[in-house]
Amino acid sequence: MNVLRLSDLITQGRVAGKRVFIRADLNVPQDDAGRITEDTRIRASVPCIRMALDAGAAVMVTSHLGRPTEGAFKPEDTLAPVAARLSELLGAPVPLVSDWVDGVTVAPGHVVLLENCRLNKGEKKNDEALSRKMAALCDIFVHDAFGTAHRAEASTYGIAQYAPIACAGPLLAAEIDAVTKALAHPKRPLVAIVAGSKVSTKLTILQSLAGKVDGLIVGGGIANTFMLAMGLPIGKSLAEPGLLGEAKAVIEAMKARGAAVPIPTDVVVATEFKADAKATVKAVADVGPDDMILDIGPQTAAVLAAQLAMAGTIVWNGPVGVFEFDAFAHGTEAIARAIAASPAFSIAGGGDTLAAIAKYGIEKDIDYISTGGGAFLEVLEGKTLPAFEILSRRAAQS
Ligand code: 3PG
Repeated sequence: MNVLRLSDLITQGRVAGKRVFIRADLNVPQDDAGRITEDTRIRASVPCIRMALDAGAAVMVTSHLGRPTEGAFKPEDTLAPVAARLSELLGAPVPLVSDWVDGVTVAPGHVVLLENCRLNKGEKKNDEALSRKMAALCDIFVHDAFGTAHRAEASTYGIAQYAPIACAGPLLAAEIDAVTKALAHPKRPLVAIVAGSKVSTKLTILQSLAGKVDGLIVGGGIANTFMLAMGLPIGKSLAEPGLLGEAKAVIEAMKARGAAVPIPTDVVVATEFKADAKATVKAVADVGPDDMILDIGPQTAAVLAAQLAMAGTIVWNGPVGVFEFDAFAHGTEAIARAIAASPAFSIAGGGDTLAAIAKYGIEKDIDYISTGGGAFLEVLEGKTLPAFEILSRRAAQS
């Protein structure tokens, strides 16, 4: 994808002394007291800010936080805790500016954080007047918010239309490169793991990937629905009987391309959904009416691990079992370790997947970990995200 990059502008000497507006995704989880509980997104946004500061720009950064009501500020909407954390990470003051749409004062070599952009009226609807005002604040707009790249809002899309220059920051550029490498020009075989509780929430992903991948590993409640579609017993397991036709269609689409959806041959079951429930390994044909399938079995895990070892590219979204309970975590751990050990280019994303990666400490062995939640899922669905669309359009015009 051809987009202008901040790094290119810096190399060309076009950033020094310029007003640079960075749209970051600093939407981080907080506890009830407003303390940040996980700061990955803030840390991931630092390289772009530093890059612009080091190049001598006057830097404005904004982000949304949560889903506030436009024009109705509440204390929990403030980016103040984010400003404090950003200041620690940058080792420099980061003043927080409210009511910033009509003008911002910041000197070259300095950075300010503009209060929660979703408080501005018209933000969500990508209002043209608001977008033009924001665009007038800067010489260069930098989109570095992959987590929000699937939203067409005033601070993510409209501003990119009207700013004198619109480019991708290093985080967004890295996401574009990783996604292109994994899905547009993958080294084959391309194996995707799509797991989670419901087929319905990931049906479009399964359908889209069925046309692209060489192996589609399903897990969790999704696998249960596929097993049911194959006529296998699943007892009381979580599944969506209303989607058996869709599951069968995915299997058929893969078969027609000479590819496969590997169905588990053994599973780990329990009769209760709790951490200390008795875990029993069973062949799939032996699953009883009171059983709940909570993980893939060791034989299945070994077969999938062998497939992952041979892959050229791996895309991972979702744990294959209830990995929060240790007795039902072996399948997810085996998959995680197989991905980590595989020479394949690997990309992973999604909240639960990131939690599994952290649990097994394999961060360094995954080639790219996406910061996007919904945005990553939309990429897997094969959609062109609004951020990529507008930035490539602007690049084509320049
Ligand atoms: C996210 O947390 O996935 C992003 O920050 C996007 O947030 P949103 O779903 O409120 O647009």
